[in-house]
Amino acid sequence: MKIVTSASEIDGGCTFVPTMGALHAGHASLFKLAKAKSDFVVASIFVNPLQFDDAQDLANYPRTPDRDIEIAADSGVTHLWLPKEEEIYPSKITKISAGQLGNIYEGANRSGHFDGVVTVVSRLFELLKPESAIFGEKDFQQLTLIKEIAKGVKIIAAPTVREADGLAVSSRNVRLDKESRSAASVIYQALIAAKISRNLQEARSQMRKVCATQPLFNLDYAEVIDEQDFSIATDSTLNSRAIIAGWLNGVRLIDNMQMTTGGLR
Ligand code: PAF
Repeated sequence: MKIVTSASEIDGGCTFVPTMGALHAGHASLFKLAKAKSDFVVASIFVNPLQFDDAQDLANYPRTPDRDIEIAADSGVTHLWLPKEEEIYPSKITKISAGQLGNIYEGANRSGHFDGVVTVVSRLFELLKPESAIFGEKDFQQLTLIKEIAKGVKIIAAPTVREADGLAVSSRNVRLDKESRSAASVIYQALIAAKISRNLQEARSQMRKVCATQPLFNLDYAEVIDEQDFSIATDSTLNSRAIIAGWLNGVRLIDNMQMTTGGLR
């Protein structure tokens, strides 16, 4: 694996996996999917200041460079790009708006977060000129917004990697204490309860009911949305998805699961 600090050292046409480091099994699965599709796999590690609304969160964001290099090299990455902030954000850069979808659900909880995400991703694409790029379905709202701005880059969605009890793998999971970690499986249980429900109304009420069985879990939202625009799903929605977010002992966790594809449930 070649480590570079500038996109000018990499030819265009790669399969690209952008990350903010603190790599884990979820990232490794994205790299492996990229490798299965291409012999030219570029991963980037850039902790993007623009997507943090709190300076302390940015300062506390985990940085594990040695382990990151090991995981990337072992998972099929051929080029690891570690850009400097000056390359991504030269003195003049126009911030892109994520629009209305950037302000709801996860966007309502983190002001300006998705503007920062779409700005950095379009800048990374502009510098690297990848043929395709891979993003995890775990951050489904992010994936949807990136599809909207990805002019000319094919966006590939990668399935969520889960622990044995169903908890979606995330860099935030290491912040859960033992009790919260064990309680966290309630999110997956709620999504499964929605999936096996007979209709949308039952799916919504089942999610809330299951979440309420876990007193440590502080639910923010549990909804079934239209995958296209995150509007509330109705019986005529073609592709619907259950989305959940909440807090466990100060740690925010999100997850989602596809409900229907192509028509009535
Ligand atoms: O999902 C992430 O790790 C980040 O939001 C991304 C897409 C790398 C942009 O900084």
